[in-house]
Amino acid sequence: MKENSIEIETLKKVNCPLDVIAHVEAVTKLALDIGMTVKVVEVDMETLRLGAMYHDIGRSQTHGIAHGVEGVRIARGLGFDEKVLYIIERHIGSGLTMDEARALGLPPKDYLPETVEEKIVAYADNLVVGVKVVTFEEALGRFKRRLGSQNPAVFRFINLHEEIYSWMKL
Ligand SMILES: [Fe+2]
Repeated sequence: MKENSIEIETLKKVNCPLDVIAHVEAVTKLALDIGMTVKVVEVDMETLRLGAMYHDIGRSQTHGIAHGVEGVRIARGLGFDEKVLYIIERHIGSGLTMDEARALGLPPKDYLPETVEEKIVAYADNLVVGVKVVTFEEALGRFKRRLGSQNPAVFRFINLHEEIYSWMKL
């Protein structure tokens, strides 16, 4: 049986586009590579795998910023574990503050990744453009061009990078 085949079937059932499925497979591979490299903190590898595979399940409905919230709704309906729901909800960018969420028209609350698994998925997602893994510097450049170099989301991405790298050193 192909790796991640159950999750791929589920994504197909909810009409997730094939390019999105290819993307989440690439994100999952990178997230698991990061998870295996981390030494300082405990990583729940199965939650990490499921969260990475399902983080974009909401793209079956919308590619807009609401795909996180939409993804939670779909995933809850499928009976997914709460840990996976939070990974889906908090993967947009490097997370969103309540003010940012409100300004974007999302239900106002914090969408900042908190657990190790939430942080790794959000981070890995930023390093995978389509199915291609890019360097942190490339991903940071994309963030800056899109949002402006002084945007708080840029600093949040840098902090996320530094935090995850700090977990890899003993
Ligand atoms: Fe996404």
